Amino acid sequence: MESNNGPLLLAGQRVVLRRANLADVPRLAAIIESPEVSQWWGTPFTERDLEGEEVVFAVEVGGDDVAGLIQYYEENEPDYRSAGIDIALAPEQHGRGHGPDALRTLARYLFEQRGHHRLTIDPAAANTRAIAAYSKVGFKPVGVMRRYERGRDGNWHDGLLMDMLHEELC
Ligand SMILES: CC(C)(COP(=O)(O)OP(=O)(O)OC[C@H]1O[C@@H](n2cnc3c(N)ncnc32)[C@H](O)[C@@H]1OP(=O)(O)O)[C@@H](O)C(=O)NCCC(=O)NCCS
Repeated sequence: MESNNGPLLLAGQRVVLRRANLADVPRLAAIIESPEVSQWWGTPFTERDLEGEEVVFAVEVGGDDVAGLIQYYEENEPDYRSAGIDIALAPEQHGRGHGPDALRTLARYLFEQRGHHRLTIDPAAANTRAIAAYSKVGFKPVGVMRRYERGRDGNWHDGLLMDMLHEELC
């Protein structure tokens, strides 16, 4: 099994996931700061996000055009092993199926190469577009986590915990 440093490239049907590096930070930060994304993404993206436990990929669509980011975090405690995913695409890329393609690609890697049996994702309960996209891939709602995360407006918002087992990936 590969180390937790993750692979350099994962190819989807139309997207390519490439390990993000320092040169990607300005573009990824600008995507996260766009109003359509920042309303659902609590903290600005900085180079420190490349130094933490999350493994971050730039989502490329059509050559080296960076359309967004997708990242995973692994819980490696053996009796609770799972991986969590986050994703954000630039506004001009929304609604074109790139999100589900990127999610399927990363989910396949986490199930097949990293040996996970369960993945999680936790959109804001009000983020209907994200919930629709995640459901298409096979994630199921588990339940609402009340006042789960503080938004940029300073208020606590509900989150929807969703999970997916290996055999549910579609
Ligand atoms: C969430 C996100 C990753 C989804 O990726 P995507 O490529 O846009 O996903 P899709 O192309 O499948 O579009 C989402 C689906 O929701 C539908 N949709 C769009 N707006 C919607 C809304 N307001 N309510 C419900 N469904 C909506 C789309 O029609 C589409 O379904 P369809 O293909 O069956 O018509 C992307 O939109 C994004 O980055 N959004 C901003 C950041 C964000 O919310 N990140 C998630 C944080 S948890």
